[in-house]
Amino acid sequence: MTDRYAVVGNPVEHSRSPAIHAMFAAQTGQDLSYERLLAPLDGLAPALRAFAAAGARGCNITVPFKFDAFALAARRTERAALAGAVNTLRFDAEGWVGDNTDGAGLVNDIQRNAGRALAGRRVLLVGAGGAAAGVLGSLIAAAPAGITVVNRTLDKAQALVNSHAHLGIPLAAATLADAPAAQDIVVNATSTSLAGAAAPVDARVLAPGALALDMMYGPQAQGFLDWAAAHGAQPRDGLGMLVEQAAEAFFFWRGLRPETAPVLAAIRAELGAAP
Ligand code: ATR
Repeated sequence: MTDRYAVVGNPVEHSRSPAIHAMFAAQTGQDLSYERLLAPLDGLAPALRAFAAAGARGCNITVPFKFDAFALAARRTERAALAGAVNTLRFDAEGWVGDNTDGAGLVNDIQRNAGRALAGRRVLLVGAGGAAAGVLGSLIAAAPAGITVVNRTLDKAQALVNSHAHLGIPLAAATLADAPAAQDIVVNATSTSLAGAAAPVDARVLAPGALALDMMYGPQAQGFLDWAAAHGAQPRDGLGMLVEQAAEAFFFWRGLRPETAPVLAAIRAELGAAP
């Protein structure tokens, strides 16, 4: 029987996840379907229960439900616990298991697709909301020299750093204005790109040839990408992270690792997006 999965969100109609997972399934010969499921803003739990009761095996969770999904999981992976959010659920017979594959997706995109090792590098994480919290633990695990989290609201950056302080690499929190200069890898995890804005930090944060990655993709990321290119950095959007987090979820469900490069190329061609 075909195993059912879905991406659950609100809104969810623009999600690329069904196309990505369809390619993974075809490539690995897995008999599964993957759909979009729109859940009411105040009704994630009943929507998930109905989906699971219909025989579904798991789902991805997107905006705005990653915290609700965390609460609904009976068990959580270590990285989901650290992130405080769940983007992947597996409906095991013994209970729902929650994982968070966003951080691994980001790290794999930076290291494999963009070809930038994180070890020993200076990393700047811009933002301290849910998107930043979802990736900080995985960035730390890649052993950079240090990570500075900068945010408009300093308290939130400090809280995020405090919750990860035991993980053994130097972490610092600062305001956007106090962002350190000459960082090797700059990751924009704020929602400012939704407004089509350039980066919320000064260009001095970029070391020559830095990688500057926005977790968004499509037109929303363009302001940041233009800013990065104009200041000599290598711009990168969030499409690679999207495909890599999907591959991690696919592995969590199916125990198989799909090839991501051809899928990323196909999705990029479909979107007609810039590199
Ligand atoms: P997400 O789940 O996308 O991370 P979020 O948790 O609401 O959404 O976090 C949004 C992030 O974008 C925060 O870091 C927020 O800064 P504050 O914590 O100070 O609110 C940041 N952000 C949103 N609008 C911003 C703006 N105009 N300038 C700078 N940072 C902004």
